[in-house]
Amino acid sequence: MIPVKTIEWIGDADGVCRIIDQTLLPGQLKYLDIADVEAMWEAIRTLRVRGAPAIGIAAAFGVYLGLRSAAPPADRFLAELERITSYLATSRPTAVNLFWALERVSGLARATFSLEGLAVAISDVLAEANAMIGEDNDVGKAIGAYGAALLADGDSILTHCNAGGLATAQWGTALAVVYVAAGQGKRISVYADETRPLLQGARLTAWELKQAGIPVTLITDSMAATVMAQGRVRAVLVGTDRVAANGDFANKIGTLGVAVLAHEFGIPFYVAAPISSIDPCIASGAAIPIEERGADEVSLGFGRRTAPEGVAVYNPAFDVTPARYVTAFITEKGLVHPPFPEGLKRLLG
Ligand code: MRU
Repeated sequence: MIPVKTIEWIGDADGVCRIIDQTLLPGQLKYLDIADVEAMWEAIRTLRVRGAPAIGIAAAFGVYLGLRSAAPPADRFLAELERITSYLATSRPTAVNLFWALERVSGLARATFSLEGLAVAISDVLAEANAMIGEDNDVGKAIGAYGAALLADGDSILTHCNAGGLATAQWGTALAVVYVAAGQGKRISVYADETRPLLQGARLTAWELKQAGIPVTLITDSMAATVMAQGRVRAVLVGTDRVAANGDFANKIGTLGVAVLAHEFGIPFYVAAPISSIDPCIASGAAIPIEERGADEVSLGFGRRTAPEGVAVYNPAFDVTPARYVTAFITEKGLVHPPFPEGLKRLLG
């Protein structure tokens, strides 16, 4: 039922990180073997690997690849580690999972280095990145189980962007809910927003749901209001790149509009959020860094000019949805309901 592995390590210490090149979907399912940190930076930056949890795992493997090829002498190890993590941190700004993963592997490497030396520190980074894959699958299944309890046989949900297996190691977050519910025998169908400008909904969500045998209907982003007004949507399920301490959250551009619509039509709006996507250091959504991408993604989509050359383009890749539009966050430790500042704080212990 779960389509494919998005990211995995192939081989031993000399191995490669294998990802699906998501820029080629749905036309081609092609794997890309990444063997150095520069190629990993490029893969993250260009969305060959994308989606908050997958970006985090990719960055962790990237640290290993950087350390492996740098072969730093012991007295340069900490400086080299800092250089590699700072470099990877520049690949994309919004998904907090990237910074969470970099901090996790570099913290481990620093600790192991002081106790056991260089070689163990480097091999521990690879082991930790591999461990993240197993954990990510467990997180997806747990989010799926908590979320599936919210859905009944015959429900139809709407989702925006891709928070599926392709955005994680394998299971997804928002779509894990659909996979688990379907595994329980519930007939769930999905409206997938196309998700301009890069079409993650059309290219990726529609593709992976079809692979999994889940009924999916593609709509353009501007059709969401109509399908909601027509009573076709029982709940909205989306993922997130970063949740602030007050429950405001960032997700793919267009999510805010979907949330406002769901509010207007009285449709529950759920956000699947692994704990690694919660950033307690950011008080509200106003402080979440929002990535801006190039004009060509809008005016020259997939190589075809759709706007006059030289026209001004504004292309924020994410938006921030205020907490008041969220019915609940679905995490691997259960649901978090309003008031979110207290609920999220309790969740993080
Ligand atoms: O630009 P992308 O494709 O990386 O954006 C992805 C999203 O916005 C996802 O909804 C989010 O990362 C959650 S993935 C579980």
